[in-house]
Amino acid sequence: MKIILDVDCGVDDSLALLYMLKKPEVEILGVTSVFGNVSAQKSADNVCRILDLADAPKDIPIVCGAESPLEGQWDGPVAIIHGDNGLGNARLPVSSRTVLDMPVEDFLYETTARYPEEVTVLTLGRLTNVANTIEKHPDFKKNIKNIVMMGGTLSAPGNVTPVAEANFEGDPLACDKVFCSGIDISVVGLDVTMQTRLKKSYIESLWEYCRDQDKAIAEYLCAAFGYYFEGNHIQDGCIDDCPLHDPLAAIAVVKPELFQFQLLKARIECNGDYCRGMIVADKRNHTFEAEYIKFAIAVDAEAALRELLSIF
Ligand code: BDR
Ligand code: CA
Repeated sequence: MKIILDVDCGVDDSLALLYMLKKPEVEILGVTSVFGNVSAQKSADNVCRILDLADAPKDIPIVCGAESPLEGQWDGPVAIIHGDNGLGNARLPVSSRTVLDMPVEDFLYETTARYPEEVTVLTLGRLTNVANTIEKHPDFKKNIKNIVMMGGTLSAPGNVTPVAEANFEGDPLACDKVFCSGIDISVVGLDVTMQTRLKKSYIESLWEYCRDQDKAIAEYLCAAFGYYFEGNHIQDGCIDDCPLHDPLAAIAVVKPELFQFQLLKARIECNGDYCRGMIVADKRNHTFEAEYIKFAIAVDAEAALRELLSIF
């Protein structure tokens, strides 16, 4: 599986990245960064540190992407959930890896063009980089195999507004452009991520049973998720567990059979006082003009958690 990850590298993004790095069937062709939980620049810096932590090959390209949405301004870092550094204030050494000095759109285009219809882009943040690539390189749509994205909600409550999820609400216009592109898209949203609960005890016990070479990763996850659990507690009232957002989207790439998908034509509401970033999916027989999107509507949560923890 040839994968590019596009991340706003916060705590759950970092676990998704670690999971992908540990899967032998996954070949990571690059990691691109976008504003969201932290700035795109800080996200790229966090990616470098996580790659070091996992002792990942030094030649994995890292590219810094958009620092703001297509319209309007970024609201700033989400320190309450992801800490001041995006990694739950866990300290990881400064990395000597370099971030490639090239436009993210060119990287996404050139890398997918090198392997036509073979590359999956896994987006774990706003869709800004992908929307900009579609705009700048019309052939991108033909070359990319598919996109799996963490974001949105069909029927679960939103997590930043009553009806919207953070990644979609943070750049609804970009998300709508990507939805309209005709690219094969699978959406892993709050409908399934809220049902998949990562228990505090899973993270806390990692250190005891993981392989010796993974002790540093277990230590990092304990520190980062210690903060993340607190943040989610304040936001969602959960005490001993938290939803599994970005890692679940990564699992959907590797093990799609753990999910049930529904195909619906859908757009994203880009305006409105209450509905910005909301998915408008048409369940009528005579649907509006839009592209079909695959929405994850159910998941075998226990199997997904087993799959995640199997990397240790
Ligand atoms: C999404 O928003 C970000 O905070 C997380 O990293 C995840 O991608 C959840 O709504
Ligand atoms: Ca994310």
